[in-house]
Amino acid sequence: MPIDTTLDKNRIPRHIAVIMDGNGRWAKKQGKFRVFGHQHGVQSVKDITEGAAELGVEYLTLYAFSTENWNRPKIEVNALMTLLVKTIKRETETLMKNQIRLTTIGQVDTLPKDCQEELRQAIEATKDNTRMALILALSYSAKWDIVNSVKEIAQRYKHGEIALEDIDEELISGSLSTRTIPDPDLMIRTSGEHRISNYLLWEMAYSEFYFTDVLWPDFRKEHLHEAIANYQQRERRFGKTGEQVSEVK
Ligand code: IPE
Ligand code: IPE
Ligand code: MG
Repeated sequence: MPIDTTLDKNRIPRHIAVIMDGNGRWAKKQGKFRVFGHQHGVQSVKDITEGAAELGVEYLTLYAFSTENWNRPKIEVNALMTLLVKTIKRETETLMKNQIRLTTIGQVDTLPKDCQEELRQAIEATKDNTRMALILALSYSAKWDIVNSVKEIAQRYKHGEIALEDIDEELISGSLSTRTIPDPDLMIRTSGEHRISNYLLWEMAYSEFYFTDVLWPDFRKEHLHEAIANYQQRERRFGKTGEQVSEVK
């Protein structure tokens, strides 16, 4: 598909974070098992990853599995993990071809061993790719990340490495698992749900939110383009007045 010419190439969000939601409902609508929806969601991941890279997005973070998702029926959790292993194995070549670097955020050490191993290999193989970073949030929870960060800071304080005055926003940002990634400019959630579900709470303090009723397995490049076009119509004020912001333009 050609790149949408209505998009302003100078205002492409640098970092897009996505909550890929609605796989289960997509499958149910067709009288199929939920897993069928997850399987079809993989094509959307491929399409959106490619679409984002084509537009010059630098970071794409996909919420693939939340800490809370461990509470789903075992059969679904297992199917998701198997799908993850298979997909990473199959797609590493495409990531190389498209010059995409794979990384993860979340408690990856809680994933099954074969998942961890597949991820390790793909991360290693793609580590020098510079076109775009694809960040998979796996067994991720923003509150978990913040708790971890607080623990790390407390340790450093206890050992006299930092003083109370050193604790600032930068130090906290630098202790999160997203420390090397700029904050998301745009967050997209599919499937009509209007909530954050424990995603990037600290990092999305000033992100623009875009919600669509499209279910994740139906989400394609043109939907991504629509989301970005909508983003480009917005004025990001960061606490300032509209007049102040338009002056600097
Ligand atoms: C998103 O789709 C995928 C994951 C959470 C892993 P869901 O599985 O949440 O689908 P719905 O929301 O039940 O339709
Ligand atoms: C959020 O989706 C997590 C992922 C997309 C991986 P959920 O479908 O699990 O979110 P809730 O529980 O409905 O808020
Ligand atoms: Mg859901």
